[in-house]
Amino acid sequence: MILRTVVELRTQVAAWKAEGHSVGVVPTMGALHEGHLSLARVAKRDCGRVITTIFVNPKQFNNPDDLLKYPRTEENDAILLATAGVDTVFAPRVEEVYPAGFVTTVSVGGVSAPLEGALRPGHFDGVATVVTKLLGMSQADRAYFGQKDWQQLQMVRQLVRDLNLNVEIIGCETVRDPDGLAMSSRNQRLTAEGRRKAPALYAAMLSAARQFRNGKPLDEVLAQAKAAVLGEGFDSVEYIEIVDADMLGPIIDSTRSLRMLAAAWVDDVRLIDNIVV
Ligand code: PAJ
Repeated sequence: MILRTVVELRTQVAAWKAEGHSVGVVPTMGALHEGHLSLARVAKRDCGRVITTIFVNPKQFNNPDDLLKYPRTEENDAILLATAGVDTVFAPRVEEVYPAGFVTTVSVGGVSAPLEGALRPGHFDGVATVVTKLLGMSQADRAYFGQKDWQQLQMVRQLVRDLNLNVEIIGCETVRDPDGLAMSSRNQRLTAEGRRKAPALYAAMLSAARQFRNGKPLDEVLAQAKAAVLGEGFDSVEYIEIVDADMLGPIIDSTRSLRMLAAAWVDDVRLIDNIVV
């Protein structure tokens, strides 16, 4: 069943809670693939009832063309979610989420400043605002996010801590195609040629992480990874960095977890990925 209004959603969730069920929410922008569905399955394992939200959030698109081209496949999404065991789909219209007179922005400092934050102005404010709203609307006990968007996940954790939101954030593994390409709704926009080149990003990252662990200097490792990606036919690399996994800043201490994050363009599509180092 697809719910469109916050009142309907709240009524449904209140009924579930009165029956003693725990509630999980999986926020998405639709155009669902196995990555999204894996979050829904993990949620269904943990929670009595699961809501998936589908909302292409205009506030997080810093590029109007990207918003316009974002794939919308709601009917098919609802079928996939039902087979993954999701109980309810919440797919509000833009006016339901941002009615006339809406003026609040949630802006998280620290973790959201570098990398994606620096390159996509306004993007994380848009994500933080809509995630805060979706958590408030759904009143879920747990919310599920993919490690695919590592910086987003860390930002959501920070936001929940800072605002004392009463929800547990669960980060789920990145799901990849067999050749290593991280699944993404944007992969649909790749031509056959672009799709053939795309796994080079993950391959270069794995190789760089291995060399870094073997003691090769950071600068050399990153320069080599960038050259490898460009050599495989990518148009440009916005960044490939190794950072503190939680803070997203420079490596401060070799005992802390590290993460490699990358963004690069192939075939007019912007791909992002990240791995453990
Ligand atoms: P979207 O890109 O649709 O992703 C929804 C959720 O699915 C995110 O938590 C994302 O990290 C996760 N996801 C995407 N691809 C994945 C993959 N290959 N493996 C595992 N998880 C994957 O991220 C957003 O939407 C939005 O910013 C949102 C949080 C919904 C706010 O609008």
